[in-house]
Amino acid sequence: MTPFDLRRHLIPFRSQLLPHIFTDTLVIGSGVAGLRAAIEAAQHGDVVALAKEAIDHSNSSWAQGGIAAAIDANDSPQSHFDDTLRAGAGLCEARAVRTLVEEGPAEIEQLLAWGMRVDRNAAGQPQLGLEGGHGRARIIHSDGDATGRELMRTLIAHARATPGIRLFDRCFGVDLLSTSSGRVTGAVTWSPRYGLQIIWARATILAGGGAGQVYRETSNPRVATGDALAMAWRAGAWMRDLEFMQFHPTSLYIAGAPRHLISEAVRGEGAVLVDRRGQRIMAGRHPQEDLAPRDVVTRGIVEHLAGSGEPCAHLDARHLGSAKFAERFPSLASMLAGYGIDGGRDLMPVHPAAHYTIGGVRTDVDGRTSLTGLYACGEVAANGVHGANRLASNSLLEGLVFGRRCVGAALKDSLPDPVPMHIESRVQTVVAGELDLADVRSSLRSAMWRNVGIVRHGAKLADCLDMFAFWGRYALGSVFDTPEGWETQNLLTVGHLMTRAALERRESRGTHQRLDAPEEDSAGPGHIDWRTGVPASQRHAVGVIGAAS
Ligand code: SIN
Repeated sequence: MTPFDLRRHLIPFRSQLLPHIFTDTLVIGSGVAGLRAAIEAAQHGDVVALAKEAIDHSNSSWAQGGIAAAIDANDSPQSHFDDTLRAGAGLCEARAVRTLVEEGPAEIEQLLAWGMRVDRNAAGQPQLGLEGGHGRARIIHSDGDATGRELMRTLIAHARATPGIRLFDRCFGVDLLSTSSGRVTGAVTWSPRYGLQIIWARATILAGGGAGQVYRETSNPRVATGDALAMAWRAGAWMRDLEFMQFHPTSLYIAGAPRHLISEAVRGEGAVLVDRRGQRIMAGRHPQEDLAPRDVVTRGIVEHLAGSGEPCAHLDARHLGSAKFAERFPSLASMLAGYGIDGGRDLMPVHPAAHYTIGGVRTDVDGRTSLTGLYACGEVAANGVHGANRLASNSLLEGLVFGRRCVGAALKDSLPDPVPMHIESRVQTVVAGELDLADVRSSLRSAMWRNVGIVRHGAKLADCLDMFAFWGRYALGSVFDTPEGWETQNLLTVGHLMTRAALERRESRGTHQRLDAPEEDSAGPGHIDWRTGVPASQRHAVGVIGAAS
């Protein structure tokens, strides 16, 4: 067994020595899924919602393109359903997708009722954008390319005005609390102001986002370190399909600059990918060319770069011209201007980067995990909506629909209040050699990018797994007392799990591409489910889920 199977908590603690807080619902995470859940839960009891940093610092705030939903009279949930399944490469759960597309439009109505501003056409109807994999324009957006910012402004304002919600910002969820029978009863948290605290909750909703920071090249903000995934794993929840990480085809590629996302909506407005000589990259590779599903476009770029030896592709939106580009994409235009680029006049250098963690904590269609009292929604959850490749702009909608549904499930489950019992973590304080955390993190992120990135190979995955197991023996054996240390341990845990799942999936499907197994295997493993303590030979294998509803 590796240390990944043995460790249950990150820190030594004894609950009776810490301050205690009681709540009906604890929400870990404050992006779109977390806040939607908190607002819903506040109708039925009191809520504590944790934000790891400032409340507007989540991945959701960064979303550019928008929210996909079939709200146009000429669109239909069925068409949205079909596009989602097609992108998902055979691993979507039809029931979850059906729920998403049918309940999605009401969530948009709700946001508008709460005061969200969306871009509108001359007739006053929401203006709808087009993105990859969608058969028609159905992406609702705000301020051109700042949808996440406006969505989060709306949800934060509504949550702040809702009685019964306590928002704890700069509060790090360290670990889940669970009883010996496996019921989750809250979490241990840490904040710079109050230190360690115990929060007891009848229902705990995990909405802590994904793990893009496990890769050197990522469009994700600093906070996306997979903490919620790792804590669910340590608590013994079943995890699903962690090998599927979505790489966004177009992040800005400038030495030394962050990998800013260049929204797919830019291609929705007619931009195309070209190489240095101006040759189209996606022409002839897929019927939808530059608007093919994201995994196809990412692969197209990578194959082209491997053949040409060029370091990056270019996005050509020059047909829009400077004024139109700046009008439709104001935030992008000003970000690009900071690097001397005019998106409507110059080619934009782009490269794929890790963007969205598709796999996660396995849930049913109501957000129930395998642990009583624990629910999950948003990027941390694997509820079957995204399959092997998420359809563009489906994630904000997923956070809204399933954030609300988690609360419905918790109400139905009607669990008793947790009895605040004495809980003691099993972690032994050990004396470990000095560790340069920044170095561990950067070595991990580079190794993930090189070996568990867009194109993978079994032999390299196996080497990487050995290396991570070795690093785990000392990095997970150390006890830290700051978020920097816990985040590094979480990244290492999630990197290890992703690598193991990628090695296990001996086929190429959706975002998971293996040079040594280049075909899709229709008799393949279906979903790959694991929980701590289960050796590979006994992992919970589940059949391929049919696409038909
Ligand atoms: C984008 O604007 O391209 C990102 C949208 C998404 O990730 O769904």
